[in-house]
Amino acid sequence: MSIYHVPVMQNECLEALQLRTGAVYVDATLGGAGHSQAMLKACPGIKLYCFDQDMDAIRHSSDVLKDFSDSAELIQANFSALRTELALRRVAGIDGILFDLGLSSHQIDETERGFSFDRDATLDMRMDQEQEYSALEAVNQLEVGELAKVIRSYSDELHALRIAKAIVAGRQDTQIRTTRELASIIETVVGSGTKESLKSKVRVFQAIRIHVNQELQVLEQALEDAIHLLNPGGRIVVMSYHSLEDRIVKNIFRDAAQGCKCPPKMIQCNCDAKQRLKLITRRPIEASANELAINNRARSAKLRVAEKIWGK
Ligand SMILES: C[S@@+](CC[C@H](N)C(=O)[O-])C[C@H]1O[C@@H](n2cnc3c(N)ncnc32)[C@H](O)[C@@H]1O
Repeated sequence: MSIYHVPVMQNECLEALQLRTGAVYVDATLGGAGHSQAMLKACPGIKLYCFDQDMDAIRHSSDVLKDFSDSAELIQANFSALRTELALRRVAGIDGILFDLGLSSHQIDETERGFSFDRDATLDMRMDQEQEYSALEAVNQLEVGELAKVIRSYSDELHALRIAKAIVAGRQDTQIRTTRELASIIETVVGSGTKESLKSKVRVFQAIRIHVNQELQVLEQALEDAIHLLNPGGRIVVMSYHSLEDRIVKNIFRDAAQGCKCPPKMIQCNCDAKQRLKLITRRPIEASANELAINNRARSAKLRVAEKIWGK
């Protein structure tokens, strides 16, 4: 049986969360339930709400967590609905939350999810299988300028405009339907068989995935909501795998840890911004050499931790 997903920096996450019996936690990105299971085993008296927008992750993890059905509740929803979903369950505050962003290995490995350019499948890339908009629509409907913007802003790909033009030319007569067709079109611009061309394909596929799932837009709001929900002393722990995600986390943590934003010359504060977080990690934690030796996926992971210091 193939492994669904190997949790990254599991010990570091557990340590950062400082679990306490009787307290309430959220795993915002359940995936294969690796982190959730570790939390429930490390501190059996917690209540844990687990979110994932992917039906398959919920199905798989409900089996993994079957022995914890009293303490864990699985919620199939985007973490953008954190406040609403917790309010529905009469949860007004939480004592810690973990975000382990991006895709699980299972999502990447499942050919028919259409996330990988080296597996031939219909273009899809939706994390939430009920969402209507997929990579098929993005690749076949976006105007050339929009496509170039998606590729450039989510991947820093140098040839963004040329690739966007090649995609638009490639769909002139018939739709671009598969990952392999899209990969071949990218190759007409960047070539094939070199390290650089491989990197370009990775970048373009990743940019389209971020766009399809609106990953960065959803993250900003969810982090603000999570900070709002945290009880004083509660920890927010975020692991990201992409520099744009990490920048969002860093900026939101920094703003919440700053408090008053009035210019230094002002004698009295009139912005009313209060410091809400204390930074626990000034620089992100990275996976140890031991972990990197056994889990290649951990190589780009950056873990940031902050603690709530002020009430709702
Ligand atoms: C890296 S995996 C998490 C792996 C998990 N920590 C484990 O130990 O197995 C990320 C998971 O988060 C989910 N996800 C990503 N963005 C999401 C969002 N905005 N809302 C809900 N789930 C999301 C993905 O579907 C995926 O299953």
